[in-house]
Amino acid sequence: MSEHTILQPTTIVIFGATGDLAKRKLFPAFYNLYIDGRMPKGFNILALGRAENTDENFRNHIKENLESFSRRKVTLEDWAGFQAHIKYFQHQLDEENSYKNLYQKLEGFDKVYGTRGNRLFYLSIAPNFVSVISGHIKNTSIASNPKKDRIIIEKPFGHDKASAIELNDLLSQAFEEEQIYRIDHYLGKETVQNILAFRFGNSIFEPLWNHRHIESVQITVAEEVGVETRAAFYEQTGALRDMIQNHLLQILCMVSMEPPVSLESSEIRDRKVDVLKSIRRISPDKVDHYAVRGQYGKGTVNGVPEKGYRQEEGVAPDSNTETFVAIKFYLDNERWQNTPFYVRTGKKMKEKHSYITIQFKPLPHNTFSESSQLLSANRLIINIQPQMDIRLQFMAKKPGLSLELKPVEMIFDNFACQNDTPEAYETLLLEALLGDLTLFMRSDQVEEAWDVMKTIQETWEKTKDSSFPNYEAGSWGPEDSNALVERQGHKWV
Ligand code: BG6
Repeated sequence: MSEHTILQPTTIVIFGATGDLAKRKLFPAFYNLYIDGRMPKGFNILALGRAENTDENFRNHIKENLESFSRRKVTLEDWAGFQAHIKYFQHQLDEENSYKNLYQKLEGFDKVYGTRGNRLFYLSIAPNFVSVISGHIKNTSIASNPKKDRIIIEKPFGHDKASAIELNDLLSQAFEEEQIYRIDHYLGKETVQNILAFRFGNSIFEPLWNHRHIESVQITVAEEVGVETRAAFYEQTGALRDMIQNHLLQILCMVSMEPPVSLESSEIRDRKVDVLKSIRRISPDKVDHYAVRGQYGKGTVNGVPEKGYRQEEGVAPDSNTETFVAIKFYLDNERWQNTPFYVRTGKKMKEKHSYITIQFKPLPHNTFSESSQLLSANRLIINIQPQMDIRLQFMAKKPGLSLELKPVEMIFDNFACQNDTPEAYETLLLEALLGDLTLFMRSDQVEEAWDVMKTIQETWEKTKDSSFPNYEAGSWGPEDSNALVERQGHKWV
């Protein structure tokens, strides 16, 4: 976004650099930014790990993983240039002395590489280490310059509103809010960012973008994958916390927010908080009416037989954790009065597909009713992944001598424009290097999003769902999810 801001020479410090996220996402993102010439002129990546290791060994490990996870091929020339910026540093997360040594190391880097104290700390670690690390960072004054030091943290940002407030308080003791970059990787996805351009860069859609013309909005994030190797985490989390509280609510904000006055990060983030505040809170006795939970049983995904969630390694045989959620939200504001926003997400679904559907209201009168022609609803479909396109569905005349109508589509295809789209992490890391907070979550956004979840979360924790497992792997979720939208004469698209 901040195309014209100059990238300052920076040292990037990765806590947990030997972990999964670093190898799958962070190093590939930095590598691709490097190839694109989007890394600062002077930069170092200081990879922190518990074990003793050499730069050379660690670089080889990164190279091997780049070969699997980088979207671009690893060439000898690019790798030779990139690898020289990676340094390994043995560091114990829980030992104060380690931070003192890190401080010395960083000061040394500033002298040798001219990084002038600009530091970007990436906490790619389990959430229980955030408090230890931020405490030591504060005590050793490693990140005490709010203009030069930034910290990136990954979700989960707490597990409910109270713990999110606690986490925010803790972070605020070591950092100013402007230094904290909370990642929600959906905000880095090309098609999600395109919602802003689409809505606010055109004059034709915004006049229709309200309850007078829109019948309903649907947001689906369906995954084919199951819980994989993350059962320990997922058993404590479930789909509501893992996906709805963050990714789906953020998409909902992008679709429904008021036009920002400018692209200032505070302006956009304020508009999103307005949306979250306007979401009607669901009272405990209405949770069943507005929200549906599901858990997959055995089934077949893409022709491959799959076991049920309760049979996955590390999952309790009577687990009450939801792997599917569908919710109907209402926004109590002028623009969206009485327009249902249906959101759903699930694991082991029929196919991987994330998309938004804006369904327009039917015409007040069907001019073609005499010839018994049904008019399909006008829809705008924004495909987030794996397809990345925007489709407008409308009625047109079938070519021929009679006046017959059929539904057609007008498509903007992202791939046709550019088949080499950056990964979400590339976008987000570049924004963090540029110091632009727009695509990151502010503390009040996180807290408000938890507040939206509160009653559903508490009700589901208290009551066991005796229907689990209630959908087959490879399906579109439990039957109740259809009932949720059909009650109002709608259908999942
Ligand atoms: C993560 C969740 O935030 O998003 C995972 O923890 C989920 O459970 C993932 O699979 C989905 O991301 P993407 O980019 O693959 O849609």
